[in-house]
Amino acid sequence: MSSESPIQQPARTDHDPGRIGARVDELLRTMTVAEKAGQLTQYFYFRLPSGAAAEPALGLDVEAQPRMVEEALGRGQVGSLLFVTDPAEINRLQRLAVEGNRHGIPLLFGFDVIHGLRTIFPVPIAMAASWDLDTIERGQAVAAREARAVGIHWAFAPMVDIARDPRWGRMVEGAGEDPFLGAAVAVAQVRGFQGAGLGQPDRIIAGPKHFAGYGAALGGRDYDEVNLSEYQLWNTYFPPFRAAVAAGAGNVMTAYMNLDGVPASGSRWLFTEVLREAWGFGGFVVSDANAVRNLLTHGFAADLSDAGARAVAAGVDMEMAITDPAYAHLPEAVESGAVTEEVIDARVRRILEAKLRMGLIDAPYVDEDRAREVLADPEHREVARVAAERSAVLLRNEGGLLPLDTGRLGSLAVIGPLADSRRDTLGPWVFDFDLAETVTVLDGIRQHVGERVSVDYAPGIPVVQRVFPSMFDMFCGNRPADPEGFDEEAEFTRAVQLAAAADVAVVVAGEWQNMIGEAASRSSIELPGRQLELLQAVVATGTPTVLLVMNGRPVDLRWAAENVPAILDIWYPGSQGGAAVANLLFGTVSPGGKLPFSWPRTVGQVPMIYSHTRSHEPDNQRRRYWDEESTPLYPFGYGLSYGRFAYSDLTLDPPSIPRDGTITASVQVTNTSDREATEVVQLYLHQRHGSAARPVRELKGFQRLVLPARGARRVEFTIGPDERRYWSTADRDWVLDSSAFDVWVGGDSTAEMTATFEVLPSA
Ligand code: NOJ
Repeated sequence: MSSESPIQQPARTDHDPGRIGARVDELLRTMTVAEKAGQLTQYFYFRLPSGAAAEPALGLDVEAQPRMVEEALGRGQVGSLLFVTDPAEINRLQRLAVEGNRHGIPLLFGFDVIHGLRTIFPVPIAMAASWDLDTIERGQAVAAREARAVGIHWAFAPMVDIARDPRWGRMVEGAGEDPFLGAAVAVAQVRGFQGAGLGQPDRIIAGPKHFAGYGAALGGRDYDEVNLSEYQLWNTYFPPFRAAVAAGAGNVMTAYMNLDGVPASGSRWLFTEVLREAWGFGGFVVSDANAVRNLLTHGFAADLSDAGARAVAAGVDMEMAITDPAYAHLPEAVESGAVTEEVIDARVRRILEAKLRMGLIDAPYVDEDRAREVLADPEHREVARVAAERSAVLLRNEGGLLPLDTGRLGSLAVIGPLADSRRDTLGPWVFDFDLAETVTVLDGIRQHVGERVSVDYAPGIPVVQRVFPSMFDMFCGNRPADPEGFDEEAEFTRAVQLAAAADVAVVVAGEWQNMIGEAASRSSIELPGRQLELLQAVVATGTPTVLLVMNGRPVDLRWAAENVPAILDIWYPGSQGGAAVANLLFGTVSPGGKLPFSWPRTVGQVPMIYSHTRSHEPDNQRRRYWDEESTPLYPFGYGLSYGRFAYSDLTLDPPSIPRDGTITASVQVTNTSDREATEVVQLYLHQRHGSAARPVRELKGFQRLVLPARGARRVEFTIGPDERRYWSTADRDWVLDSSAFDVWVGGDSTAEMTATFEVLPSA
């Protein structure tokens, strides 16, 4: 990414809190309550592609909606819009806002910049699997640069919800099951989006979401209720949010569901007591889409006016509305005394502060020529390719089948519809992508091997459809097509014959991108359609087979884990996915990703986490079910590389410490192979006794390193009070116990190298 841009960013930003405060005071003094309510309202603004029909669940009149929004802009009663990505359209709507508003207050434009805008990165769960914080930060910095260039000021990201149930489709958007990894990834993303703080050129506001507990939906069913103890909230579900807030995130989004009996979007405890009072959050809170009016749906609010008054009083500064906002009723709520104007002013203050800090009030428009240039920056594609390489996880490599050697390979059969699908290579939650430049697995392999190897392709099976269609199909008409005249049996046979005739078969299997994401929960984790059958038939030919898994959550790989020699999880790898996959397959780079979740064998095992507590009959831990192992298929933190690593000489210094003390753990890591390779060194901790029973082990440190052939490095971690403190139900508070602690260091959560230290009782 070039730091010197030929065209200067137009926005001048104001960083002086005194001056910002004075300008906000001045505006608040002269604004009516209706104008204030407008600043607290964000509308969707979108036009569907011609011929597309609106998803009925959204209750949207596609013709009337943009008209209604433009009228509200003309009355000066809109604070923000979402879903516009065209800079010319952003300028047009901005002008309507600025001119329609007697104070000339511009709009904030927000968007779901989840894993890129034009340059699409691997999906967030994949980025987390890189355990590479620099790559994650760099990726979101590119996304921010593209977004800011088109006039977007704010990303509804990162999604920092802990996900422990792969039936929940939104697992793809987060960093997996672990709060320590989740917090580190959240911070890297906030830094990537925002840079050193709000208002930096080429950066946008980060909005960690969805506060809180959204990933623990009953049965993994998106939007359904969540029941979490305070123990789980404080120790597991809150830490990534807390870390994102501490890193300076300018926004937080609410969650749709009911949390322990109170709809999250109306929870004063969450948004005032925890977020503002306990954590000192200074940014603004936005509701999820329609989540304020949903307070009615939940049977919580009596009517729209009550919903608005209660959400605003709870601490929800801005309402994201599709139509008919509850916050339009705030003037009548002030009139009736349901909410005070002081509360409204405090909420509006946050929004105006954000606009001032982003430099919007002085420079509301965007340079459309520069936008084109930034979106086309080839360096962005390069960053995306490296990210895809670093996020792939090698799950199996029997007999060193990978990397493939182009010198010894005559022919390759590439099998499976996902191998040749541009849209699926990008993954869910993208809208502004460039399909023409997207590199599929098939494209990537062909470009890599050129004329040296003959590459044949067969889908083998048709595109698999969801039983119930996806609501995202309406936005970009991206419902996968049923191939015309596709003769399923003949295609299946042709694919198997191609595999039989080739030196190596590469099968790409997984979930189509519209099978994962929001409102994409599943009741099973099996490979959809006949993909397993196709894989089995290919393997049965005797041709050495590589399985590439395209996914955003674990799928059932029990058969593959025993029968397919090489399995590489490539996730949804993004714009440059195919180029990255080719570099991995042919050994230009070595895989180094590690799983950010425990990979279950069957859906019946979920939730399955590595950080469980020890209980009655621990020797029986593997046999909690009588019909299946109660261990994961692949453990948390697991992933192979083309090298081999040995761990030695683990030392803990000093061996005992007072309760506020810190020890240093250090270990020697050696690449014992003849090629450069990447390892993620992980440190796990266990407290032996205390005021609560603690997990058998918890991740408390990690470092990703590249070691040359036969190279070695000493890696150090510190374990201080922050790594040992936890929220105890017994004390209903944070505690720091004296105890013996076990430490393990290694390449995954089953690491065996261990040592012990003592935290001494205070004198
Ligand atoms: C609903 C989703 O839950 C949220 O994550 C997203 O940011 C908004 N829609 C806006 O698209």
